[in-house]
Amino acid sequence: MSSVTLHVVRGDRETGRRFEDYEVPYREGMSLLEAIFWIREHQDPSLAVRYSCRSANACKECMAVVDGKAGYLCSIRAVPDSSVKVEPLSGLPWIKDLAAVME
Ligand code: FES
Repeated sequence: MSSVTLHVVRGDRETGRRFEDYEVPYREGMSLLEAIFWIREHQDPSLAVRYSCRSANACKECMAVVDGKAGYLCSIRAVPDSSVKVEPLSGLPWIKDLAAVME
């Protein structure tokens, strides 16, 4: 079975920032947001991420930095047998993990 490895920023303003790796079973068409949901469901429910519409590119809440470029986690597709770095948006007040203050 194929998988995708996510290197995800964890932590908050008190604990500081670190990366943690998660191996997620790949499913065809899976978005990075869906991969993060899998992590929350099977490995760590405390992983913070912002989202609302889940796939419509309407809410803009899931924006993050993916391999150095800003994009929407719900519209970026996971690539089987690859690894991807996922960070919160820079330039916004950081709350926790992938969540930043968005106004
Ligand atoms: S969850 Fe709404 S744009 Fe991604």
